[in-house]
Amino acid sequence: MSNPVPLLAARDLVKAYGRTQALRGASLELRAGEILAVTGASGSGKSTLLHCLAGIVRPDSGSVTYAGERLDRLPEKRLSELRRTEFGVVFQFGQLIPELTALDNVALPLMLAGTGRQAAQTAAGEWLERFGVRGQEQLRPGELSGGQAQRTALARALVTGPKVVFADEPTGALDSLAAEQVMTALVHTAREAGTAVLLITHDAQVAAYADREVQLRDGTVAPLEVTA
Ligand SMILES: Nc1ncnc2c1ncn2[C@@H]1O[C@H](COP(=O)(O)OP(=O)(O)OP(=O)(O)O)[C@@H](O)[C@H]1O
Ligand SMILES: [Mg+2]
Repeated sequence: MSNPVPLLAARDLVKAYGRTQALRGASLELRAGEILAVTGASGSGKSTLLHCLAGIVRPDSGSVTYAGERLDRLPEKRLSELRRTEFGVVFQFGQLIPELTALDNVALPLMLAGTGRQAAQTAAGEWLERFGVRGQEQLRPGELSGGQAQRTALARALVTGPKVVFADEPTGALDSLAAEQVMTALVHTAREAGTAVLLITHDAQVAAYADREVQLRDGTVAPLEVTA
């Protein structure tokens, strides 16, 4: 929070899908360890912005800078390495690998980073526990409830200890009590590890966990007037 230099910065991002202008000059900064909520109407460009910031989608123009490096110009190989080591992503839809159990979905990023299967599974079990997924470790995503799948995806995003977590509606399938439990666990983890979180949400109660909130309107970012 006290570091004034942004860890991640987007400037004037433009992204069109055919004739749809998803982003029209969106700018945003995320500081190390900061929890930033991004809200806005459906279709306002929130997921597109997250995908550009996480180096998953290349903007048509504008820049994304992470720790001084221009993500939008990086070759795909370096970009995927960066995503694997520095970022954790919770996608809005269909994020888990259907053939793997919940436990193996969470263990996978660790195994890709070189951790042995046993150690990866032990750590994965602890993360699932932390997010309230107990007794479902051996189920496959198709057998999990929507909320259990979302928690599993969150555990998977955090298991490698990333610098930035991008979470697209991580509580979208949860009731308010479960959302509160998941947000408490997410915020606690982020604070403890100094992880920055970009949190997309429709829910004002979820956004209230953030240090700051910005709103997307028609593909541009507007700061929110905070009455605190
Ligand atoms: N892959 C794609 N192909 C075509 N159009 C797309 C694609 N992704 C997004 N869009 C369009 O871009 C606009 C912004 O979409 P985006 O998913 O970023 O919105 P959002 O704010 O995340 O919405 P929601 O709250 O419903 O998730 C929408 O009009 C959408 O239809
Ligand atoms: Mg979206």
